[in-house]
Amino acid sequence: MCGIIGYIGKAQAVPILLEGLRRLEYRGYDSAGVAILDGGKIETRKRIGRIANLAELIKESPPVGSIGISHTRWATHGGVTDENAHPHADQSGKLFLCHNGVIENYAVLKDQLTKEGHAFVSQTDTEVLAHLIGKHYEAAGGEPSKGRLIEALRAALKQVVGTYGIIMIHRDVPNAIVGARRGSPLVLGIGKGENFFASDVSAIVAHTREAVYLKDYDIAALTPEEFEITSLVGGASGFEVSKVEFSEEDVSKGEYPHYMLKEIYEQPDTIQDAMRGRLSREEATSILGGLEMTNAELRDVERIILTGCGTASHAAMVGEYVIEALAHIPTEVEFASEFRYRNMPLPKDSLVFCISQSGETADTLAALRESQRKGHRTLGVCNNVASTIARESDGGVYMHAGPEIGVAATKSFTSQVTILTLIGLLLGRIRHLGSSEGLRIIDELEAIPDKVKRILEQNSHIKAIADKYCNAQAMMFLGRQFNYPVALEGALKMKEISYIHASGHPSAELKHGVIALISPEVPSVFIAPDDSVFEKNVSNIEEVKARKGPIIAIGTEGSTKLEKVADDTIFIPPCPDFLSPILTAIPLQLLAYHTAVALGCDVDKPRNLAKSVTVE
Ligand code: G6P
Repeated sequence: MCGIIGYIGKAQAVPILLEGLRRLEYRGYDSAGVAILDGGKIETRKRIGRIANLAELIKESPPVGSIGISHTRWATHGGVTDENAHPHADQSGKLFLCHNGVIENYAVLKDQLTKEGHAFVSQTDTEVLAHLIGKHYEAAGGEPSKGRLIEALRAALKQVVGTYGIIMIHRDVPNAIVGARRGSPLVLGIGKGENFFASDVSAIVAHTREAVYLKDYDIAALTPEEFEITSLVGGASGFEVSKVEFSEEDVSKGEYPHYMLKEIYEQPDTIQDAMRGRLSREEATSILGGLEMTNAELRDVERIILTGCGTASHAAMVGEYVIEALAHIPTEVEFASEFRYRNMPLPKDSLVFCISQSGETADTLAALRESQRKGHRTLGVCNNVASTIARESDGGVYMHAGPEIGVAATKSFTSQVTILTLIGLLLGRIRHLGSSEGLRIIDELEAIPDKVKRILEQNSHIKAIADKYCNAQAMMFLGRQFNYPVALEGALKMKEISYIHASGHPSAELKHGVIALISPEVPSVFIAPDDSVFEKNVSNIEEVKARKGPIIAIGTEGSTKLEKVADDTIFIPPCPDFLSPILTAIPLQLLAYHTAVALGCDVDKPRNLAKSVTVE
């Protein structure tokens, strides 16, 4: 949510910043701006809309200079206007700041500053922070210097309640960018004779693979040659230089028209990567060393809570079914945003999993902290290495899915479900599951990537179905048991990117209200593989047909019965019930994708959304 990139070096800053902003655009795309520092003057350009609009504006008269900060916004405080776009200046007009996060006490601070004579041009919380830092800088007096700027920042941040990832420049401090973080991500990229700040490494991976993931309460200052990291309270702060795992190529679309399609097609590999090195035929189980728990500790687990937001919460719901089926441990899913405010009665030996692709979702992070506060062992299932959730959890399992740029999550869902299945297998094997059962599950898991490939081969068939129904008034997604969460996920994908209203329900709930919505203009997507509830699903399909509702069915290859009752059918290869969500999710992703494309929607950047929601 909101992308930030800063550059200091010898090259012209503008092209580097614009390219970085394009890479970060998935984090927010309401408006964008840059501020370039050169020889004691700062020039800014800001524009509502996409980075392309800003690039057009810059083309008219590009600011020259090799130090700059920039931002792409997902609006929180203040509407989408040029004035509210970042960077924001302080009262003196010499200091410019980009910010990701929310300053919760901004109204109080703004009142105080207004009384002291400060005038504001935007409605943002960020401008208040810029003024506060500027005030401390002016009050300190003395020679302009990087040290004075850092101290002003330190003094201001001590007055602030809220979250921030910030970077700033000052006209009188011609050779530095200063940044800080609390609650919102900020990464420092180390180059040769140049250094970077970014809200995530995808913005800078074209320039360097060496990064320092800043911690909460770190303050960092960059010059072209060096960097220093201190803590908000003063004194040096320890840090680690990490090697970025992925390359520039991994963050580009390649031959695909959209990131989302690329990421859908990556799933045979990403599912494989989620399992790689984690299955032991010898012991007929999975090996998840990152959990950092002994078998004895895992055997003591009485209850599991799975928490996350959006797609991650749907993966968690599949996980609930799978863990209960394989390990017989009571498992519950709670939205991360609810978990933190709910006083859930949890036994001492509860295990909490925080599931998050980005590892930065504010609500999921808050759930993690709340769970730890109550003394529960809290584990992460994250994709972004060194993200805040990954770092703060007591252990966890990385997804290794590579960067997911499309705002609508796809490959992260199937990776999360795969990992939750590995967790179910591990917990089952140290309880009641026999080794032959364990081996059978491993065989089935290993067969999944090829089965995914077979589903992807039906892309043009799924596109034809999408073209046929893309003008639907609304859509229903129905499934049972393991595939009820997939119905929710299918509906979410459809809503997110095509803006067709869609809702997911357990198939049998249909007759308790939802059926009132069925009409020839409202197609129903039934997820009805050959599982224990197949016949029940068919009965529900008949109920919809009787009311003239069109039926799109996802079934198992060879299911002639389904073909007869449905108007259109998409087949998945046979698999055990508990693995079917990994397969049934794929056609629904493609259905949503092709529907959105047919309707001319911006698939990778759906309106109002952002990839990583780092505010509450
Ligand atoms: C946002 C995105 C969703 C995503 C959710 C959780 O709402 O638009 O696609 O599922 O955040 O993200 P996370 O990074 O925590 O998995």
